[in-house]
Amino acid sequence: VIVVLIVIGAVVLGLTLKSGFESTFLSRCEKFSQYDCKELWDLFQQAYVNKDPCNVPVEAYNPLIAAAPFKPQCNKMMFWSKTKDVVHGFTAKRKDCFVTLEDTLLGSVLDDLTWCGKEGSKDTFTTGCPGWSECENNPVRSFWICASAAFADVACGDVTAMLSGSINTPFNPESIFASVEVPRFKSPRIKKLDVVMVIQKNAISNCNHSSLKNLMQALDKGITYSCKDVSKSRIQECGAKPEIACGACW
Ligand code: APR
Repeated sequence: VIVVLIVIGAVVLGLTLKSGFESTFLSRCEKFSQYDCKELWDLFQQAYVNKDPCNVPVEAYNPLIAAAPFKPQCNKMMFWSKTKDVVHGFTAKRKDCFVTLEDTLLGSVLDDLTWCGKEGSKDTFTTGCPGWSECENNPVRSFWICASAAFADVACGDVTAMLSGSINTPFNPESIFASVEVPRFKSPRIKKLDVVMVIQKNAISNCNHSSLKNLMQALDKGITYSCKDVSKSRIQECGAKPEIACGACW
């Protein structure tokens, strides 16, 4: 009898116990009210479970994104490339100024997570998953491409992008910013792109960098371009001082 009870107990536990990944998904999701997080979890899983982790197309996440669509937030949308920590350090404190993809529900739920499925299993795995560039159609990369495209599709008004002055190619054609987001910026929905070049002590490039000419050329006709070199310390100061108006940060 005891053995039977232990077996039944283990089975019930196995069926009800959430994986660490699912708990993280749900607890991050629940910080945003108005969404059915369990429904979003189901839609999320449907994109990659029971699939070869190198064969999850970008479109697999369309139903998930349709269930939690990005809202256009004209003049506040912030894009970035290779400046993740500076940007998110800033937007975490100045929600009044800018929102990034990672400040939205789906972006914040999946930020910094790794996941994949396996053929013949209904589970979510967090180890042994393909790396970002190991195969093109991996579950993590496909999600970020799908989400970045949808976020850029609703961008409007004046948009801002923080690029890094500490790398050789601040506007890298391989980046999500260059390959997925910029091509979706459309006039007249978007009026202007304000590039903020984040300048640190080790800076090796700035607004004069040749790759930014490619950015200008890639922009839809009708979208105005501007670029400003801004020190990392000024960005941090603006994050720390809510009394500085958003428009006076740089
Ligand atoms: N390995 C793992 N993750 C990666 C890798 C990689 N090699 N490359 C990109 N990523 C994921 C990570 O989540 C990383 O934080 O994409 C994010 C941004 O990568 P960057 O190369 O710094 O920038 P970029 O490719 O231009 O993407 C940033 O896309 O996330 C959206 O809207 C956001 O504008 C932003 C842009």
